[in-house]
Amino acid sequence: MSGSQRAARFEILDRQDFSDVTYSLVIRHPRMAKAARPGQFVIVMLHEYGERIPLTIADFDRYAGTVTLVIQAVGKTTKEMQQTCKAGSFLHALVGPMGVPSSLTGRRKVICVGGGLGVAPIFPQARGFKENGAYVIGVLGFRTRRLIFWQDKFEACCDELILCTDDGSAGIKGFVSDGVKRAIDRHRDVDEVVAIGPPVMMRACAETTRPHAIKTVVSLNPIMVDGTGMCGGCRVRVGDAVKFACVDGPDFDGHQVDFHDLMMRLGRYAGQEKTAVQRWSENCRMKEADLAAELLEAADPFDEVLGG
Ligand SMILES: Cc1cc2nc3c(=O)[nH]c(=O)nc-3n(C[C@H](O)[C@H](O)[C@H](O)COP(=O)(O)OP(=O)(O)OC[C@H]3O[C@@H](n4cnc5c(N)ncnc54)[C@H](O)[C@@H]3O)c2cc1C
Ligand code: FES
Repeated sequence: MSGSQRAARFEILDRQDFSDVTYSLVIRHPRMAKAARPGQFVIVMLHEYGERIPLTIADFDRYAGTVTLVIQAVGKTTKEMQQTCKAGSFLHALVGPMGVPSSLTGRRKVICVGGGLGVAPIFPQARGFKENGAYVIGVLGFRTRRLIFWQDKFEACCDELILCTDDGSAGIKGFVSDGVKRAIDRHRDVDEVVAIGPPVMMRACAETTRPHAIKTVVSLNPIMVDGTGMCGGCRVRVGDAVKFACVDGPDFDGHQVDFHDLMMRLGRYAGQEKTAVQRWSENCRMKEADLAAELLEAADPFDEVLGG
């Protein structure tokens, strides 16, 4: 057994694939499941040489002692996890829960908006608002019908659910900001909108609610390194202040966030990220080629049986 296998401690109990790029992992971690609150995230290391990546706790079950992550394979680490994380395998490290939990009490009517992968992290908040007695309107957006996931989980905790698809193959044709408009038109007494998804989507939601002066909370996803407020990597501009998303957020006032700055910072390492994923996939192809060569060179295990 290698060192990394010996150190592995966080067992993956279940995996589901929602699409070619999106998958969920259910991980055994009773203490994390007990401590987790909606809005928090973890830092994950796949193996001892892996990079540390932040992922939102998309669900937790205190009785089963599990946490659920929903991941989109966008680059080296998330693709490597997609390839290697299976039920019965282990994560090297899972640190958290991190970040300030979302504030869920004292609201009478809220709209919870999730776009694409953002649908997963908005789920614990929608459920938390419901548990605290709010009337919850869910607005979920996907590019197309076949990418929809967790609709049943939202139906169970939302009083109303507005599904939006870019191509109109399910629900209303349009973006989540159209869904938010529709919800606001129907309900003039919304206390708060919470939106999670790509920065452009969160910005569009914040601009939709601004003229109505409805408090709008967004969950920011800047590049994080340590997740403890030490490195400054996750710096974001909110109004006149500079905040660290890992310790001051990730939830912030969407009407105050400088989305342009966030998007600029997110794209800063695009060159290195491209190189990392290229190197990793070349390495995978080389390993596959080595394995194929080994198999060709190896004696045919059926030779004896067949008398060759
Ligand atoms: C608080 C928070 C919660 C997140 N929750 C989720 C989640 O639940 N599911 C999910 O799939 N993704 C989530 N992300 C984004 C996820 O961390 C990145 O997709 C991941 O780090 C990409 O790594 P990579 O090596 O696969 O891709 P790379 O090719 O390295 O990067 C692809 C893109 O991901 C972003 N990214 C890269 N490294 C980091 C990093 N260290 N921290 C943050 N973003 C990074 C950048 O925008 C980059 O352009 C979250 C990010 C933050 C900050
Ligand atoms: S990730 Fe280092 S300060 Fe936030």
